[in-house]
Amino acid sequence: MALIAHHEKVETRGLLLVLLILVTVSIGGIVQIAPLFTIESTIERVQGVRPYTPLELAGRNIYIREGCYNCHSQMIRPFRDEVERYGHYSLAAESMYDHPFQWGSKRTGPDLARVGGKYSNEWHVAHMVKPQSVVPESIMPGYPFLLERELRFADVADHLRALRKVGVPYTDEMIENAEADLVAQASAEGQEGLLARYPKAAVGDFDGRPDRLTEMDALIAYLQILGRMVDLTDVRIEDLLQ
Ligand code: HEC
Repeated sequence: MALIAHHEKVETRGLLLVLLILVTVSIGGIVQIAPLFTIESTIERVQGVRPYTPLELAGRNIYIREGCYNCHSQMIRPFRDEVERYGHYSLAAESMYDHPFQWGSKRTGPDLARVGGKYSNEWHVAHMVKPQSVVPESIMPGYPFLLERELRFADVADHLRALRKVGVPYTDEMIENAEADLVAQASAEGQEGLLARYPKAAVGDFDGRPDRLTEMDALIAYLQILGRMVDLTDVRIEDLLQ
C-alpha cells in the first residue's frame, strides 16, 4: 500500500515524473554505452586497415566539403541484395579511422564503401566532370571545378596531428613526411617511402594532368582506396581478426 501511495505522488506530478524517467533512462544509457568507449574489443581489429594517406585524407575532406554523403552511403549492410550488388558487407574496423565516419543514411546514388578499384581514374575524371557522359541517365551533379582548383595542403601535417589526438595511429614519421607523401602519391616516382608507410595506396597521376596537383587528384585517390584496405576475396572474417 505504501508503495502505491508513493507512486501516486509521482504520477500526479508531471514534472517530477519526467525528471525521474530521465534519471532512470540515463542510468540505463550509461551502463550500456559507457563501457563501449573503453573496451578494446568494441571494434575488432582487422588486417589491412591503415590510416589514410595525406592525399586520400585531403580527398576525403573534399568529399565532405562537397556533401557527397548527402547522396552516397558508405556502409554495406549484411543482407543478400546489398552484398550481391556492392560486395562484402562493411566491417566496423574498415571505418575505425574515419573521423567523422561517412556511413551516411541516404542513397540517391549507390553505396561507395567498395568503389575503390571498380573504375579507372579516367572514368572517375569523366564521371566527376559530367556524370552523364558515362552514365547517361545519371542525376548526379557535375564537379568540373575540381579539375581546375589547385589542391591546398600546407596544413596537412596538422591534420594528421589532430587525427592522432583522437586515436588514429599516425607515427611521427608519417607526420614529418606528410607533405612529401602527399606530393609523391600523385607523382610518377619517389613513392617507396609512401608505400612502406601506407600499403596499397594507389599512386600516379589521378586527374590526367601530370603537371598539376588538383582537388580532383585528391578526391580520386580517396575514392580508389575505399573498400580496398582489407582483402576480402576468398577469406573468412575469422582469419582476418588480429
Ligand atoms: C544529388 C545526388 C548526388 C550527389 C550530391 C553526388 N552523387 Fe555520386 N551518384 C549519384 C547517382 C544518382 C549516381 C548513379 C549514377 C551515376 O553513376 O552517375 C552516382 C554515382 C556515383 C559514383 C559511381 C558509383 C558506382 O558504383 O557506379 C561515384 C564514384 C560517385 N557518384 C561519387 C560522388 C562523389 C565523390 C560526390 C561528391 C563530390 C558525389 N558522387 C555526389 C548521385 C549523387
